[in-house]
Amino acid sequence: MTLSIRQVGPCFAGEVTGIDLTKPLPSGVAQEIHDAMDEYAVLVFPNQNFTDETQIAFTEHLGQIEHSIGAGLRKPDEYRLSTHFADVSNLDKENKVYGREDRRRLFAIGNRLWHSDSSFKVVPAKYSLLHARAIPSKGGNTEFADMRTAYDALDHETKEHIDDMIAEHTQIHSRRSVGFEEFDEEERIRMAPVKQRLVRIHPSTGRKSLYLSSHAGRIDGVPVTEAMLLLKDLTEHATQREYVYSHKWRLHDLVIWDNRRTMHRARPFPENEPRDMRRTTVIGDGPTVEQQVA
Ligand SMILES: [Fe+2]
Repeated sequence: MTLSIRQVGPCFAGEVTGIDLTKPLPSGVAQEIHDAMDEYAVLVFPNQNFTDETQIAFTEHLGQIEHSIGAGLRKPDEYRLSTHFADVSNLDKENKVYGREDRRRLFAIGNRLWHSDSSFKVVPAKYSLLHARAIPSKGGNTEFADMRTAYDALDHETKEHIDDMIAEHTQIHSRRSVGFEEFDEEERIRMAPVKQRLVRIHPSTGRKSLYLSSHAGRIDGVPVTEAMLLLKDLTEHATQREYVYSHKWRLHDLVIWDNRRTMHRARPFPENEPRDMRRTTVIGDGPTVEQQVA
């Protein structure tokens, strides 16, 4: 079987039709999806009417699921979904839309900053699989930036300057950058910074990508202000419109992206409308900075 893929957006996203991912996968299809991910980095699968169980089952065909313990501000007794999911909704445990001032909402809308999922974890995410269960009447697009093309477009001098840099990532950096400062002691400990390479090599293609995320706020051996300005400059470069695909969600779309060579961000939508997006995540192969293994 061969997946039917047509390119959408500027050269790194594809739409895949002719397959129902809620059914048991025919043999060989998981490998076809991996190959297509290496080619496109973002794949859109329309009309996938997943339940939680079938989304989990499909995700497990692609790799080990990253559990979502300790990534946001929901306390364990406030989870709406099983820990197989990152709950990317604006809903509380009773499926009610968060109030405008709810700190869980204010933390969650930090996803409107460019980022790569779980870059704040020692072993960051490989793929994210986001499924649309309820969408707002307007807005709420997800935008993707191609970090491989962005790296290739840098001049030689900049590549040499940044190739071996190590950045420090924490959700505290990303939230502080939009004025969210209220972390309690437990959250500060849980969100301790981790180190990631600023340029990473994709294990399947051997190509280099910028590995940026709004969670990055420091670079080893570089003065803080200089590091923050460099990260801002690189992010501005990497998110020029010609490197960006904007996905307008339809109900039951599944979008898979490779966090190792893309960044993404959510766009605003009417805050009183439910947006129920459920993300399963395939864990990466290992740390990007070897010394963290110990
Ligand atoms: Fe995300």
